[in-house]
Amino acid sequence: MIGSKARKGGKIVKSLRHKNGVEEFVFGTPVSTGAVVEKGRAENIEFRENITLGEPTLLTFDLEPEDRIYGLGEHLGSINRRGRRFRSYCRDEANHTEDKNELYGAHNFFIHVKDHQQIGYFIDFPGEVVYDTGFQEEEVFSIEIYGKNFRILKIFGDTPEKIVTGFLQAIGKAYIPPKWAFGYFQSRWGYKDQKEIEEVYHRFKKEDLPLEGIYLDLDYMEDFKNFTVSKERFPDFKEFVGKLKKEGVYLIPIIDAGVKIEAGYDTYEEGIKGKHFCLDGEENPYVAAVWPGKVHFPDFLQSKTRSWFGDQYRFLTDLGIEGVWNDMNEPAIFYDEKNLEEAVDLASECRGKNLNVHQFFQLKDTFANLLNNEDYHQRFYHRMEAKKHLHRDVHNLYGDYMTRAANEGLGKHLKRRFLLISRASSIGMHRYGGIWTGDNASWWTHLEENIRMMPSINMCGFYYIGADTGGFGGQCSGELLTRWFQFSAFAPLFRNHSALDTRPQEPYAFSKEVLEHSRSLLKCRYRLIPYLYSTYMKAVENYQLFFKPMAFQYPKEYEAVEDQLLIGEELMLAPIHKKNQSHRLVDLPEKMALVTLREEEADLTLAPAGPQRLSYDLDHLRFFLRPNQMIPLGEGKNNVSKLSLEKLEVLAYIREGGAHVFYDDDGISMGEKNQERMHITITPRENSYDIAVKKPHGALKSIDFKIINHRGEIQRIHYKIKE
Ligand code: GLC
Repeated sequence: MIGSKARKGGKIVKSLRHKNGVEEFVFGTPVSTGAVVEKGRAENIEFRENITLGEPTLLTFDLEPEDRIYGLGEHLGSINRRGRRFRSYCRDEANHTEDKNELYGAHNFFIHVKDHQQIGYFIDFPGEVVYDTGFQEEEVFSIEIYGKNFRILKIFGDTPEKIVTGFLQAIGKAYIPPKWAFGYFQSRWGYKDQKEIEEVYHRFKKEDLPLEGIYLDLDYMEDFKNFTVSKERFPDFKEFVGKLKKEGVYLIPIIDAGVKIEAGYDTYEEGIKGKHFCLDGEENPYVAAVWPGKVHFPDFLQSKTRSWFGDQYRFLTDLGIEGVWNDMNEPAIFYDEKNLEEAVDLASECRGKNLNVHQFFQLKDTFANLLNNEDYHQRFYHRMEAKKHLHRDVHNLYGDYMTRAANEGLGKHLKRRFLLISRASSIGMHRYGGIWTGDNASWWTHLEENIRMMPSINMCGFYYIGADTGGFGGQCSGELLTRWFQFSAFAPLFRNHSALDTRPQEPYAFSKEVLEHSRSLLKCRYRLIPYLYSTYMKAVENYQLFFKPMAFQYPKEYEAVEDQLLIGEELMLAPIHKKNQSHRLVDLPEKMALVTLREEEADLTLAPAGPQRLSYDLDHLRFFLRPNQMIPLGEGKNNVSKLSLEKLEVLAYIREGGAHVFYDDDGISMGEKNQERMHITITPRENSYDIAVKKPHGALKSIDFKIINHRGEIQRIHYKIKE
């Protein structure tokens, strides 16, 4: 059995059992992170894993060569997490090279699979946790928890998928964005004013490119002050927001964690007056520097600060804004006064000297280490549950709680759904917003990382997820953008974002071919939106995965296939993620139907089980439909508001018979209003199929079925909905 060794010195105050068998162990007196929503009943259960409480607490598991580890969320590397180190400590890591052990999220859920048995674990702790999954010692999986007060949840199930479901039930339903958030978004750090954004909008229109919104990076603010808009660069912002919204195009402004210190600036003044900022050791608001220069950090761990900061978003909603991205909320810190002073002193000492190699590197490193130095985390405090906490001990809650504040504020003022993503996150935040995977680069390896990261993040509760398509840093090529589009076309969050001073990355910034291919791929994305939205909503409702690793569905020999993914129950993706490839190797665990999707038509052919080479052009999407499954397709429109569901096309691969539930709603109301669930069943008869459509969608007039059978014969059936 997993972790069969005797427990050493673990002091459990309490143990509880949840409805679905989840066991909860409370060590010491943990901070309530709010990650777990389900309540357990007190029961005497033994924690049999090998744990030694201390600084850090050490939890170890034996590893057999065949053991696998899944989960841990936003991290680089393989889906099976074996043989690496991971640090769960939210970090502004702008350079995602292969050796990096931490990124922006802290997602402490994993599944240890051993001998066809598996147990899921969630370490509910807001500080640092380090995982060594057999890197240092191949037969040992060790976890260092930097504290003695935490909870551990153990989740049971006969399959990894069932464990995920049990875990997701324990942490509560994920955030639901509006349907328009499934459209395509253009973004760039460096769109400097209204005129430039207007040009982007017009260019998309002129080129007949689908567009749902444009993200506004920090250039829209006045001196990087949150909840301000530069009058000079956006002279009539409200009107501008309204004008674009009429065309179905949303503006999504950024909000950063730090509040500029400036007398007379409302958010700063109110923050001081209301005692909303994190404090230093002398009980003064802690000073650090980020984009605006010196800032204070709102203490989002205080509930009064969350409601105050949440209300600040009203400034934006009053201007017509319905979506926001929360950034720099690990929090990222450029420098603090103490370290800057020391660095400057060192530089002065060096002036005029003949520096030897050590002195030179000391000087260089002292300046380089100003950025995001973790010493800063020992210098400021939060107040939570009437207690004072050193930032370091609760670090991973910061971005999470900022996003809770935003969610509550936006919900209160809009009273409908809104788009909200955050860069930093921890488990629990999944109920309040989505995440993007931060500052990746225009590298082919990052496209592959994107593919592998999605299921691991999804397991940790987050559904509205995606990477900066095309890559944030570095120089994107037309080919990379096109290949990335072919993957992001399936991700709930599809945003093309790039950094200041990089090569322009809009679909029209490359050759005529790239523009044409992008157009065709974006239209395909819009054709998929009814299916993607339905799958998202069903997955959230049923605590199932949207992105599933191959290992969860198929037997052993497919466990290592990590650049193919499953979506819902229906699809398998095998995107190209390498340069100069017109083909790629795809390994099919079973016979499937290969779909070639273009704006105007969708072709179906059968693909046998086993490895094979698949040709994959740049102008269409290719993916596989699993046996007895079907997917609905809408039309290739340029905006979600234009997607009517009057006419659907359904592609199906039917052997014994298939059933599908298509979900839809008004895409904007909160709660359960206007939900429609249409049931389609297809039963094969001798030379045809019986089709039943129960509770047809209100708008639906007809469905064009295209059904392929196991011999590869295709039938088209036009199905009219009876009035
Ligand atoms: C951070 C964000 C990035 C943004 C930049 C400027 O690096 O991750 O997306 O463009 O800040 O605001």
